[in-house]
Amino acid sequence: MNPIGAEEKTLDWRVETVEVTSSTNDLVSARARAGEAGGLVIRAISQTKGRGRRGRSWFSPHGSGLYFSILFRTGGEAENSPLLTLLLGVAAAEGLTEATGLRVGLKWPNDLRVNGKKIGGILCEYLEPPNQPPAIVAGLGVNLTTREADFPLELLASASSVLLSGGEVPDAEGLLDLLLARVAFWYKEYESSGFEPVRDQWLRLCDNLGEMVSVRVADEALIGKNNGIDEAGRLLLEKPGGSIERITSGEVELT
Ligand code: BTN
Repeated sequence: MNPIGAEEKTLDWRVETVEVTSSTNDLVSARARAGEAGGLVIRAISQTKGRGRRGRSWFSPHGSGLYFSILFRTGGEAENSPLLTLLLGVAAAEGLTEATGLRVGLKWPNDLRVNGKKIGGILCEYLEPPNQPPAIVAGLGVNLTTREADFPLELLASASSVLLSGGEVPDAEGLLDLLLARVAFWYKEYESSGFEPVRDQWLRLCDNLGEMVSVRVADEALIGKNNGIDEAGRLLLEKPGGSIERITSGEVELT
């Protein structure tokens, strides 16, 4: 058993594609509850109820993005899903940079960005199905060919796509293979050497390190300097007095 708790066989991806579904996270969760082993990957061409973090929806129009979820079986530690989110971020940023020629950066905890605009995101959900080993369902969405006119108004200022950012648009199937290969690489690294190498690479890819940010934690907005992440994947926020606050779960709002 490794630090995340999943077994080695998790890396034998079994990819299934569906045309339309509510959310690939829901499909993979249902399969986890039915006893499916780790390593299942379900991709959808479109989602009718794509989900993001904090109850937001994930805009998933037909054929203009890559939407998929991976099943990891775990050793039962919910706190490992934050690490998995960061690991997937590193894998996805590297894969997307290679496939598109864009410099894809990371914003804590789960955003994939180009020039400060979000082109993709990660949603990890922890499950404890009855009579089953626990699972983490890790969903990833990337906007590939979405145009300005396609985005809902409220997303226009903050969202972008590979096409809008001027990148080379990869074929979604090829991109999925590339991203899964990067996930496998970083997962093995994590199994052999722990979170440290993932963290180092995450910090290299973070696109707002050292900048002033506002972080929403529950109903409070905390202002400070983004000092990176610690060994548990927590955001290190340097407050105006110089003290460091370690944030486990929150939303970086201003950069
Ligand atoms: C976020 O940025 O808040 C996370 C977005 C995650 C979207 C992906 S698309 C595939 C998978 N299915 C979902 O419903 N959500 C994730």
